[in-house]
Formats: sequence, structure tokens, C-alpha cells
Amino acid sequence: MAAVREGDYDGIRQEIRKIMKQPGYDDGSAGPVLVRLAWHASGNFSLVEHTGGSNGAGMRFPPESVDPANAGLHHAISFCLPIQAANPWLSHADLWTLAGITAIEAMGGPKIPWEPGRTDYSTAEAAADHRGDISERLPDGALGADHIREVFGRMGFSDREIVALSGAHALGRCHEDRSGFEGQWVVNPIRFSNQYYKLLLRDIWKPRQWDGPFQYAATVAGTKLMMLPTDMALVEDKEFKVWVEKYAADQDLFFKDFSMAFAKLLELGVERDDTGFAQLVKKSAREGKPLDQTLRPSGGGCPFAGGKNRDAKL
Ligand code: HEM
Repeated sequence: MAAVREGDYDGIRQEIRKIMKQPGYDDGSAGPVLVRLAWHASGNFSLVEHTGGSNGAGMRFPPESVDPANAGLHHAISFCLPIQAANPWLSHADLWTLAGITAIEAMGGPKIPWEPGRTDYSTAEAAADHRGDISERLPDGALGADHIREVFGRMGFSDREIVALSGAHALGRCHEDRSGFEGQWVVNPIRFSNQYYKLLLRDIWKPRQWDGPFQYAATVAGTKLMMLPTDMALVEDKEFKVWVEKYAADQDLFFKDFSMAFAKLLELGVERDDTGFAQLVKKSAREGKPLDQTLRPSGGGCPFAGGKNRDAKL
């Protein structure tokens, strides 16, 4: 990958576009898994405890790297590594989030506002000390509307924002060896669109007869598609369904709302000071002791570097 002038994020976007095409991987694209990386890096934020979020790139270290909820995301981290290695001024945390929005745009989605300034943990200990226990914060696809509201409510999202964010399931697929679920949501899983909502509203979904976890199945245009219980909850719940109908009818509205909600997601817990960087503050410091964990992007500290754990199953 090319070295880009420090601070040239448009140059980094171009590098990200170069890694999008992955002929040997899934549907030939790194796009969907990059979007999921940006979401899972950010979606463990808690407004109450004020821990988690994209700042720090904590998923490079256990326990986040081995959390079953993040299974498969080592592929996305590995796709990003050559860009970060060629540009050590860039934090992993900025790269992962920028890769998510660049992928969405490259797959036909909206432009999403994005700001740099995230910093990286240098060690697993720093991450653990800063974050505490943030397991169990990501949603479980086997559950229903109450669970979705609880998980997204913890991050401060409204029903409207929850339904808009869920539209990202127009992208990618479930993998039996990662989540246990299997299949794609829409016919073209590398095109960002409002198809997900249109399909949710169709009366075609039946419980899938198989040995795996409970999920819904339908065949559309000769392609086998799926929905998770949490996807179907968006049409079973009256308040959610209002927004499914609006987004199915109006792709521009979906794009606008998705863009704002995704930008908000990537900013959770990213508090820049007057240097423009979001400092990583140890718990001890937040408890009244001086700030002591300010790490500028260094390029170091990623256990995936050098291919050591590249194929390790998370
Ligand atoms: C109730 C909330 C959600 C649940 C329960 C959920 C669950 C899942 C599951 C089980 C998978 C399959 C993982 C695998 O087997 O590889 C998946 C994939 C995916 N999710 Fe979600 N998700 C939710 C919300 C979101 C949000 C908010 C976004 C982004 C804004 C998102 C983006 C994606 C993408 C792009 C994929 C495909 C990844 C790939 O192709 O590798 N999801 N999700």
C-alpha cells in the first residue's frame, strides 16, 4: 500500500478503495465486513458507564478480540493492516471507522460525516484498564424488540435511528462458523440500498427448517435469503414498523437518516481535546488522578501485524 502524506485522509480513502476488491473472499468484497468492524468497534459504548466505543481500537486485544460477538472481524482487521503499516501516523481506530464509511460510499451508499482524532491503546493492559468489562454489550440476533431497544438505548439511539442503522443488513451475510446463522439478507449483498426494508415487508418469510439456530428464510429471484429474529422484530413491533415502511418507500430518507445515525455511532465516546486527539484516559485518572494514558497514533501494538494471528479464528 502507498504511504500517504500525514493528515491526508482523502489519500487514505483511496487506499481503502483499493482493498475493497477481494476476489477470494465472500462475495468478492471486503466492504460488508469492514462496515461490521466499524459498527462493532463503536457499538459497545455505554452512555452511563462512559466506556467502550471506537476510540482506542480495543478489538486488537483480548477480551474483545476473542469475544464470540466479534467472530470473523479479524478478516476486516487484516484487510486494513497494510494501510496502517504504510501509514504509521494513522491510528487503527481512525482507519477502522474511516474504512466503514468509505466502504458504504463505495457500495453505493450515502456520504457519511467523519472526523479523525481517535488514538490507539498501546497494550492489552491499557485497554483493559480503560474499558473495564464491556462484554455482552453487542446485540444478540436471536432476541426481540425489547433487547434491541435495550442495547441501542444504552448508546442513546431512538427507534428511528435503530431502524435506520439496521438497514446495513442490506450488506453482507451471516456465516455459520461465526455467528451460527447462515445466508444473506438481500439479492445483491454488496450494494447499499433500501432493499432490506422492502423485503422485510413482504409476506414471504418462513422459519427455516434446519439444524442451526432459529432464523427466517425465503427465496427471491432464485436467491436464498434470510432474516434474523431481530430483523423480523422491526416489523413485529408497531413503532419500529413505521420506520421500516418509511425507509422502504423512500430511499433518500433512509440514506439521510442512516448517514446521521452511523456518524453518531462512530463518534460515541470520542472526545477530542484542543489538540484534536481523543485521549485514552485510564479509569484511575477518571477517578481523580492525573491523565496518564495519552497515546498518539504510533502504528505499534497490533497483535494481528506480521500475519501472526491473521488466520486465527476470533
Ligand atoms: C439488532 C442489531 C443487530 C444484530 C442482532 C446483528 C447481527 C448480525 C449477525 C448475527 C451477523 C452475521 C455475522 C456473521 O455470521 O458473520 C451480522 C452481520 C452484519 N451486520 Fe449486523 N446486527 C445488528 C445490527 C447491525 C448494525 C447496526 C450494522 C451497521 C450499521 C450491522 C452491520 C452488519 C453487516 C454489514 C454485516 C455483514 C458482515 C459480513 O458480511 O461479514 N449490523 N449482523
